[in-house]
Amino acid sequence: MGFIVKSFKENNQIIIFDTTMRDGEQSPGASMNLEEKLKLAKTLESLGVDVIEAGFPIASNGDFESVSEISKIISKSIICGLSRASYKDIDCAAEALKNAKQKRIHTFIATSPLHMKYKLQMQPEDVHQAVVDSVTRARNHVDDVEWSCEDGTRSNEDFLCRVIESAIKAGASTINIPDTVGYTVPSEYRDLISNIINRVPNIDKARISVHCHNDLGLAVSNSLSGILAGARQVECTINGLGERAGNAALEEIVMAIKTRNDILPFYTNIVSENITKASRLVSQITGFPIQPNKAIVGANAFAHEAGIHQDGVLKNASTYEIMTPESVGLIQSNLVLGKHSGRHAFTQKLNELGFKLGDNAVEDAFKRFKELADKKKDIFDEDLLALVDEEARSNDRIKFLSLKVVAGSEGPQSAEIQIEIDGDLKKNKSDGDGPVDATFNSIKKLFPHKAKLLLYQVHAVTEGTDAQAEVTVRLEENGKTVNGQGADTDTLVASARAYINALNKLLVKRQKAAPEALSA
Ligand code: KIV
Ligand code: ZN
Repeated sequence: MGFIVKSFKENNQIIIFDTTMRDGEQSPGASMNLEEKLKLAKTLESLGVDVIEAGFPIASNGDFESVSEISKIISKSIICGLSRASYKDIDCAAEALKNAKQKRIHTFIATSPLHMKYKLQMQPEDVHQAVVDSVTRARNHVDDVEWSCEDGTRSNEDFLCRVIESAIKAGASTINIPDTVGYTVPSEYRDLISNIINRVPNIDKARISVHCHNDLGLAVSNSLSGILAGARQVECTINGLGERAGNAALEEIVMAIKTRNDILPFYTNIVSENITKASRLVSQITGFPIQPNKAIVGANAFAHEAGIHQDGVLKNASTYEIMTPESVGLIQSNLVLGKHSGRHAFTQKLNELGFKLGDNAVEDAFKRFKELADKKKDIFDEDLLALVDEEARSNDRIKFLSLKVVAGSEGPQSAEIQIEIDGDLKKNKSDGDGPVDATFNSIKKLFPHKAKLLLYQVHAVTEGTDAQAEVTVRLEENGKTVNGQGADTDTLVASARAYINALNKLLVKRQKAAPEALSA
């Protein structure tokens, strides 16, 4: 621990800065709509995230609106908006954040020779001036300003130290050193952070932050090395979501600190028992499945298949478990309700799961619960979560009503669907190459569109052949992608619901044109 500089030694709190909604959302296909972002923001707040990077307000009307709406509903976490070094970006971020109880502007510019020469086409001294101007501008709006040197790990160290000193002088209180392209390795990153701490004369006036991408699979290791060198903020995403190979995974950093506190003597505000819930939500919203062997949140992370391991775990769990499943919120699925459960038990269970629905929504959800209970004997928490998710779609312009499908080895397979578009009942029967194709064809006939199907994915919500299928459909139109979800005990009904959900999201996207193209 000898390399931690003195001024950082006393403070062992690591600030958790979540960028799932900004850097995570930059991952192709991971777009989220406003409703989903609001839900995620609430989940991140109850997870104990210190700073939520809610978006890049100048990037699109949608990003502006989500930063602005999230600012209104979150009080415990700091809400952060990203901006490039331009005044227009910074003013836009400030406007989006105006209702936030605690707000931060995060402004960045690239500092590596490669980025300055080819991307920015700016001389280093002009970049230096832009840093001073942008931080000063941001400080005119808010007290809490973070500055990032994009491609920091491939920047010249002397230049970096001079620019960091100026950013702090101009008022930045957090200095983030991104490994933008996931190029560094732990020893090199630790040295870089140590050198910055030792060489920048006013560094004690700022907190150093680490922001690592996972191109070499080193994002978490690099982040922890940065912390050991004296960084006290870590930027990360749930499930490691992010561009290319992703960002450092929040759950891995938090549990590494918690589990190996003997050599990582730090603490965070994260309520680790809420990790699994947040992870599942992000996977469900984005349609990005969690790989079974993913650390902390993968389905097999706490599964013991080998007989010798099972025997050891039964005798004493710590033989093969370095942390408990409960510590990350993994509990055995609870049998919650059945066919005979009444409205009161149902509403109470929804409240326990954190859902407060209005009277009409409860009524609709209860009706669907009864329908589900007729088809499925045991209803688990996961079933209710899928069901309530469906009920949250009351404002959708296109609504699923019914589906009848002819499937099997003797074609042609056909689907007969009834949907509602802006309140009008529509029916169609179409053939297809298989029942899913027939179902999607019939929807396309009723709502013609040119969106391309990029992904069709099915997973079982719980175990057993009567489990609900949760289907994800990803559509792309004019370079914009959306993910739709649908759940039902009938996979084809779930597929139709997912496709319709994606179309509704596309309709929302169409209304929100991006004002300008961005590179970050
Ligand atoms: O990776 C990166 O450099 C970024 C910055 C905008 C902070 O995401
Ligand atoms: Zn990044």
